[in-house]
Amino acid sequence: MPTRPTEVLFTPYALGDLQLKNRIVMAPLTRTRAENRGKVPNGLMAEYYAQRAGAGLIITEGTFVSEQGQGWYGAPGVYNAEQAAGWRRVTDAVHSAGGLIFVQLWHQGSVSHRFLYADGRLPLGPSAVNPEQLIHVEGGKVPSETPREMSLQDIKQAVEDFRHAAQVAQDAGFDGVQIQGGFVYIFQQFLHEVTNRRTDQYGGPVENRARLLFEALEAVLEVWPSNRVGVKAGPMMSEHGALRATDETLRTSEYVYRKLADYKLSHVLLMRQNADLTGTPIEHLSGDAVVHHFRRLYEGTLILNVGINAQHAAQLVGEGAGDLVAFGRGYIANPDLAERIRRDAPLNEPRPEYFYGASATGYTDYPALSQS
Ligand SMILES: Cc1cc2nc3c(=O)[nH]c(=O)nc-3n(C[C@H](O)[C@H](O)[C@H](O)COP(=O)(O)O)c2cc1C
Repeated sequence: MPTRPTEVLFTPYALGDLQLKNRIVMAPLTRTRAENRGKVPNGLMAEYYAQRAGAGLIITEGTFVSEQGQGWYGAPGVYNAEQAAGWRRVTDAVHSAGGLIFVQLWHQGSVSHRFLYADGRLPLGPSAVNPEQLIHVEGGKVPSETPREMSLQDIKQAVEDFRHAAQVAQDAGFDGVQIQGGFVYIFQQFLHEVTNRRTDQYGGPVENRARLLFEALEAVLEVWPSNRVGVKAGPMMSEHGALRATDETLRTSEYVYRKLADYKLSHVLLMRQNADLTGTPIEHLSGDAVVHHFRRLYEGTLILNVGINAQHAAQLVGEGAGDLVAFGRGYIANPDLAERIRRDAPLNEPRPEYFYGASATGYTDYPALSQS
């Protein structure tokens, strides 16, 4: 029998002390189906995640570590008892279906809006610099504003919020956590020299700009063993606004990866970039170049993501460029994506108009193979 080209994706993998049944990860995907004001996960979300339990590992949608950390209407939290009970339904459903699930811990920092806070206060950021992003509020998107600069007390609170959320996540039955250290959120806002103008121990040289990320990581490590804690990090950010790549971006990400390597973590999740990077300061990191670059700096488990199909995933894992591959839109549209890859079956097409919906439509209604 000839081996299938994607065979390598179905070799089991030891992720710390967890045995993954395949190398296929469901990427973190905000889907805005939580009851909003309380940010509580519901039965619909339990059904959605259980449908996708064929992945070797599920990483949940970004989930707020505190009320302050919110910045997207309809996204859930993991900081109080009601949310913990909601997530318990999700983790039980995934475990009953034979899956493993980590929660993505999220603090949006300045990428938020006063419309989202009950008292109408401004979001917090490293400095009073508008991140120039669009913010998803109730009923649509609005431009971000200039945040209030965080005091040292605010920073201490944010670190404590990560520790607390890590504990709530453990109580809710998650198998581990992933810190959202990438894209345009609080840790990138501190790492980025345009949004971080601080002159204290959290601003200036890269060791200072990275301090908040590592303090939050160490707080989470008070709750979880290191082999149950992952971090999403890397140079791929927004193509627009104050957080786009600069000449500092690559050096900053290299510093973060080298330092993460000391922690014996569960994994690091690395994004590629779909868009054309020509003319940007990171154009030499286009396509798989970013993967090969960071693989050299990081020997632990690397989860690769963005624009990778099954054949490409098998090639990357086969050559050791990464250990696992995360699929985002593939998992939105195909609850049984792993099975479809295994059988080389056709895929359902995603319907982007329902990515951030509020109902079962475009969420739990994509058919599995057995139903098509
Ligand atoms: C609807 C949607 C929501 C997303 N939400 C998150 C999120 O909450 N956290 C995160 O780290 N990435 C998020 N992403 C990025 C995905 O994890 C992933 O990087 C992206 O879909 C590219 O992978 P793909 O080419 O396999 O789809 C989101 C992407 C999409 C399309």
